[in-house]
Amino acid sequence: MNSKRNFLKMALQGTSLLTIGGFLTNLRAHSSVMDNSSASITNRTKPIVVSTWNHGLPANQAAWQVLSNGGKAIDAVEQGVRVPEADPSVMTVGYGGYPDREGKVTLDACIMDENQNCGSVAFLQNIKHPISVARLVMDKTPHVMLVGEGALEFAKYQGFKEENLLTDKAKAAWQDWLKESKYQPVINIENHDTIGMLALDNNGDLSGACTTSGAAFKMSGRVGDSPLIGAGLYVDNEIGAATATGMGELMIKTVGCHLVVEMMRQGLSPEQACKAAVERIAKKLGDYKQFQVGFLALNKAGEYGSYCIQSGFNYAVTDKFGSELQDAKSIL
Ligand code: GLY
Repeated sequence: MNSKRNFLKMALQGTSLLTIGGFLTNLRAHSSVMDNSSASITNRTKPIVVSTWNHGLPANQAAWQVLSNGGKAIDAVEQGVRVPEADPSVMTVGYGGYPDREGKVTLDACIMDENQNCGSVAFLQNIKHPISVARLVMDKTPHVMLVGEGALEFAKYQGFKEENLLTDKAKAAWQDWLKESKYQPVINIENHDTIGMLALDNNGDLSGACTTSGAAFKMSGRVGDSPLIGAGLYVDNEIGAATATGMGELMIKTVGCHLVVEMMRQGLSPEQACKAAVERIAKKLGDYKQFQVGFLALNKAGEYGSYCIQSGFNYAVTDKFGSELQDAKSIL
């Protein structure tokens, strides 16, 4: 990973601006890397933000606006993941997300700060920014999680407006799926790309956020890992933070993100910890080869790493040296 980042940064020197997802991304080279191209980058820097998949790049830009102005990690991750939540071209998060098999877009999200505070919503409908509702569950209630009608009523009470989240494109995809309407949702890396985001701010505090429309054409009422603290997201400000993407049931069965953080507590690097969690899934869950799971972790020192089952999972990294996409290593 480090050598790849090294290569990318060197290759892009002199072409410092790249348009990705409509955003101008500064890819200027890390000076210490240029001085010693064979050395691995320590990635020890703050602030820093990492997030899952290609849509992490524009999301990171929004988070970076907060972090680079001395803002808090918790505000950065909320602002960051709101970008794909509002983007109708992202078919797996927020507005424009694929619906369940009844044609309803149902959203899951959670957020966690440096003080172990957390908030979560699940099976939330008609609200474009579930992450901000989760933030208010954290900030304004004595609870961690609200679901369904209760989450919607809370959101409306807090001033959120109901709106139709089913775009024409998502509706057409659902109608196409209905022609066969197989009972089991097909989950793979193409249709299942939750955004999970982790940030370390200038003060050295960690936070994370995770938000998704879940598995495309899922059973009505199905909730995945993304709103579940410990499964889809976990933050321990003494150690590090982890988030996940892919087949949520596998993360739930292994409490995957808590596992990654606990592995880091035992001394593993972020990448080693993510690999250990993927290997745990592979050992415990026999059918793992049918699915994709990707973990992304960031530790207190600003080091990050990732691992997944199938190749094809990537993640975005943004720090003072610029932004870039990196490919996660995989066990298959
Ligand atoms: N990882 C998101 C989900 O399974 O819903």
